Amino acid sequence: MHEDPLIEAARSALENAHVPYSEYAVGAALETADGTVYRGCNIENANYSNSLHAEEVAIAEAVKNGHEAFDRLAVASGARDGVTPCGMCRQTLTEFCADDLEIVCDEGADGTATYTLGELLPNTISADTLSAAERR
Ligand code: THU
Ligand code: ZN
Repeated sequence: MHEDPLIEAARSALENAHVPYSEYAVGAALETADGTVYRGCNIENANYSNSLHAEEVAIAEAVKNGHEAFDRLAVASGARDGVTPCGMCRQTLTEFCADDLEIVCDEGADGTATYTLGELLPNTISADTLSAAERR
């Protein structure tokens, strides 16, 4: 067992990944401010661009259930290679998560690497960006 239950949750989400095309399974686990954990896995499609990323699935599940405040995200891949959220998922996370959201990445035998969302995506586009543009 890994010491961090959120990493364990991300790893368990890998089981349901639908990845016949890339064969690269990704699992994500998002912890809400009240401690609830929502899991997601990647779900690929024969029309490749329709594929859903694990982080998108986890955040959609959490928001759908009424959560908009998050503390931590864990991600894992079947390859245990220290996968981090892609650029698109980083932007998706910024809609609901502050710069200090902790992102814990499973690095297999090397343990974990932890980043903040602000480190992974500085200078994000946000609601503030859009309202500033409107005022111009
Ligand atoms: N993938 C994710 O699920 N999350 C990421 O942020 C990185 C990429 C998935 C998409 C695709 O199914 C597979 O990993 C290979 O890119
Ligand atoms: Zn992504």
